[in-house]
Amino acid sequence: MQPTPASSAKCPSNHHPLDPHLAAHAEAGPAAAAGAAAHSAGGEPKPDGDGEASLPVLDPVADYEKIKRIGEGTFGIVYQARDKRSGELVALKKLRMERERDGMPVTSVRELRVLQTCRHPNLVELKRVVTGPRLDSVFLVFEYCPHDMGKLVDSMPKPFHESEVKCLLQQLLSAVAYLHDRWVMHRDIKLSNLLFTHQGCLKLCDYGLARYFQPWEETYTPGVVTLWYRAPEVLLGAESYTEAIDLWSCGCIFAELLRNDPLFPGRTEAAMLDLMAGLLGSPNERIWPGMAALPHADKFQLPAQPYNYLRKEFPQLSDSGVELLNRLLTFDPEKRITARQALRHPYFTERPLPRLPEYMPTFPSAHDAASGGNGRAAQHRQRREMEEAHGRGVKRRYQMDERDRFGDAFGDARARRRPEVLRRLD
Ligand SMILES: Nc1ncnc2c1ncn2[C@@H]1O[C@H](COP(=O)(O)OP(=O)(O)O)[C@@H](O)[C@H]1O
Ligand SMILES: [Mg+2]
Repeated sequence: MQPTPASSAKCPSNHHPLDPHLAAHAEAGPAAAAGAAAHSAGGEPKPDGDGEASLPVLDPVADYEKIKRIGEGTFGIVYQARDKRSGELVALKKLRMERERDGMPVTSVRELRVLQTCRHPNLVELKRVVTGPRLDSVFLVFEYCPHDMGKLVDSMPKPFHESEVKCLLQQLLSAVAYLHDRWVMHRDIKLSNLLFTHQGCLKLCDYGLARYFQPWEETYTPGVVTLWYRAPEVLLGAESYTEAIDLWSCGCIFAELLRNDPLFPGRTEAAMLDLMAGLLGSPNERIWPGMAALPHADKFQLPAQPYNYLRKEFPQLSDSGVELLNRLLTFDPEKRITARQALRHPYFTERPLPRLPEYMPTFPSAHDAASGGNGRAAQHRQRREMEEAHGRGVKRRYQMDERDRFGDAFGDARARRRPEVLRRLD
């Protein structure tokens, strides 16, 4: 696929302060919160018979005309659609609901809350929440982005130029720093959750595994993050991991963008740890104190491999580039670089400088690319589809675990537990 001339349009800023109206509704529960999202995104309050504003009403999904399928969501197809009133292109994603009696699962409430409260130019923007004809169908309406970085990278014959990689990595780190500043960890950072616009903007999407974290030690669901981008502490079964797991994923993405190939394309947890040890040297208690106490530390036999081959594997990268990659791919999560520190790394101020988003190359939409075919692109696509299917399994399992932990928060059957569940959600 050949890049077409760069777009001159600017990367639009959608950064605006947190809307207190939304925050208040988020406390009140999903129906109100969803209604508030619809309002904040431009939906008009519907006056009742007395001329006073009534409760927020959700718009129907029938306001949107489905154009084509653009992605396989864990709980349904993601569609490109057109807003019949404004003509604007959007992406429609079905939100998971339980059976009618049980209402909205806590994981969907979390996804919605993060989307409502986090607004940043490098996070995909939630425009509205709309309902379908059935009682249990709720759809999220997002700004439409023509590319999914997974599909785009797989179809490119050559990697991005280094200045372009810097531009993309800087945007990704800005999104992650913004989320971490607000006590949100994403827990599923990977190329297919990075969208890309014709204006050169990168947008992190998919908050299906995101959750709020605490500044003190807490236990979280083990086994999160799609395998290729999963941090070593998660592979070793840690339950009290931190937001540093997102930075490991950023390191994997940095390397993948530089060489147009996934860094650790392992199919099993053991294969993943072998690949990491082979490239970075085997971790041990000396470089990573506490590693031996992790639940699965005895389950895997790591090779005796003492060398770090990053410099050899990335010969074209400057010393400071290798240093940044090393700091992102640091085994000990306590020593791993943070997103804010990474943004200040000298790699971003040395030549070649990060390209400005508006000068990034543009490509024909990755959502329009034909599937199938032969050769490298098809092989890569197939491999990524397998990895994606695995990722969807991870997410489904996680949602089941969360349901066992909390129960379903908002169905009639459990209405009395709502305040308690809401408190524990954060
Ligand atoms: N706003 C959007 N614009 C364009 N494509 C999108 C958008 N949101 C999602 N997609 C496509 O749909 C795929 C699945 O969406 P995602 O939110 O990641 O769902 P899932 O939870 O199942 O992974 C993405 O990888 C991407 O290809
Ligand atoms: Mg996804």
